[in-house]
Amino acid sequence: MQLEQRKIVLGICGGIAAYKCPELCRLLIKQGADVYSVVTPSAAQLVSPTTLQALTGHAVGCEVFNHGDEIGHIELCADADALVIAPATANTIAKLAHGMADNMLTAAALAAPCPIIIAPAMNSRMYRHPATQANLELLQQRGVFIIPPAEGPLACGESGIGRMREPAEIVAYICALLNRNGLPFAENTLLPRPEAPLELTSQKLLPKANGAGLRVLITAGPTEEPIDPVRVITNKSSGKMGFALAEAARKRGANVTLIAGPVSLPTPAQVNRINVKTAQDMYDAVKAKLDDVDIVIGCAAVSDYRLAYVYPQKLKKEEQGDSLTLTLIKNEDIISMVGHANPRPFTVGFAAETMHGPEHAKEKLQRKNLDLIALNDVSRHDVGFNTDDNALLVYDKDGQVADLPKAPKRVIAAQLMDLIFDMFRKGTTQKEKHA
Ligand code: PMT
Repeated sequence: MQLEQRKIVLGICGGIAAYKCPELCRLLIKQGADVYSVVTPSAAQLVSPTTLQALTGHAVGCEVFNHGDEIGHIELCADADALVIAPATANTIAKLAHGMADNMLTAAALAAPCPIIIAPAMNSRMYRHPATQANLELLQQRGVFIIPPAEGPLACGESGIGRMREPAEIVAYICALLNRNGLPFAENTLLPRPEAPLELTSQKLLPKANGAGLRVLITAGPTEEPIDPVRVITNKSSGKMGFALAEAARKRGANVTLIAGPVSLPTPAQVNRINVKTAQDMYDAVKAKLDDVDIVIGCAAVSDYRLAYVYPQKLKKEEQGDSLTLTLIKNEDIISMVGHANPRPFTVGFAAETMHGPEHAKEKLQRKNLDLIALNDVSRHDVGFNTDDNALLVYDKDGQVADLPKAPKRVIAAQLMDLIFDMFRKGTTQKEKHA
C-alpha cells in the first residue's frame, strides 16, 4: 500500500467526470489513505455526498457556513498530505488562480498548507481557452501539480482534449508524487501507468509543509580571505550541506534566503541566493536580512581570521625570501551576532570538531546563545567537509535532542529541517501560552 498513514482530501467539482469520484475514493482507500471529501455545490448534484460519506467514513464538506458535524475549511487540509481536486472544472481553476474562497473547497484550498494536485476536466475549447491556460500556468508557477487531461470523447459529445484522467491514473500520480520526495514528473510527460503504484519506492516521502510561512536564512560554503589579488585563505567546505538545507526548507514551504560563499553549486529551485566571498561580506549580508527572518542557520565554514593587510599586488617570492609571515586578525562571529541580536530569530549553529565534539559544541551553543547546534565530527573522512554524506548530533540547551546517523546530505537536511521547524513552532506556541 502506497498511501498508508496519508490523509488525502479529495475535492470534487461539478463536472460530469464527478461520477468517477467514488471509484477514485475507493482506490485511494485501497492504497491505505484516509480520505476526506469535499464537494462544490454543483458537484453535489452529480455525486451523492451520502455515497462519499459511506465510502470514506467522514462527513462531506460543501458550504463554508454549513458546518453541522463537518470539519471547518481551515482545519480540513491542515494535517493533510495532499489536496486532490478531481475533476477540476474551468470555473474552480479560475477561482483557485485568483484566490477566491466562495465554497468549502475553494476556501480549504486557499488555506491548504499541503501540496495541491488538480486533474482538470472540461470541454476542449474551454480547456484551450487562453483564460484557462493562463490560470493553469499561474497555478503551476505557484507549485500546484497538474495532471493533464487526456484526449478522447467528451461528455458534451465532442472529441478532443479535456477528459479527466482515469481514477487509477490519478492514484498512480498521487502515489508517485508523494513517494518521490516532491519531484514531480517532468512537465507534461506521460503519466505513470495505472498499475504503477506498487512499483514505486515508498522510502522518500513528500515533506509536509511544516515550514510554510516561515522565513529562513541559511549560510553555506566556505569564505575566502584575500592575501593578494590571486591568493586566498579558505577551507574545504563545498556548500553541499547548506544547499541541501536550503532545498529542504523550501520544500517544506519556507521562504528561503541562502547566503553562499564561493561554491559552484546550482541554486535550489525558488531559493533566493546571495553570493559573498569574505567573512565580512557574509556578516554584512546576514545583518542586512536579520529583521526579516524567523530562523537563521549558520552552516557556512566561516574563516575565523582575515589578513591584517591585503597586498594590493601579487606577492613575489623573490622579494619575500625564504619565509613569509602573514598577520591575521579575528573576524566577527556571524552566528554569535545573530544569537545575541534583539529581537533574535531562532538561531541554529553548526560545530565542526575534530576532538571533544560534544563538549565544544555545547560550549559554542552557550557562548553564541544558540537554540540548537549540529555537531559535525570532521575528523571522519566519510562525512563533513566536501562529502556527499553527513552525520550529526544535535543539541539544545538541555542536552542532545537528535542523533542523525550517516546518510546523504539531502536526507540529513530533511531531518534537521523537520526538527528545526518543529522546535521553532513549539517555542512559538509556548511563548503564546505564556504571553
Ligand atoms: O559545505 P560542506 O562540504 O557540505 O560541509 C559541511 C560543513 C562541514 C561545512 C558543515 O556541516 C559545518 O559543520 N559547518 C560549520 C563549519 C564551522 O565553521 O564550524 P565552527 O565550529 O568553526 O563554527 C561554529 C559556528 O559558528 C558555525 O555555525 C559557523 O557557521 C559559525 N561561525 C564561525 C565563525 C565565524 N566568524 N562566524 C560564524 O558564524
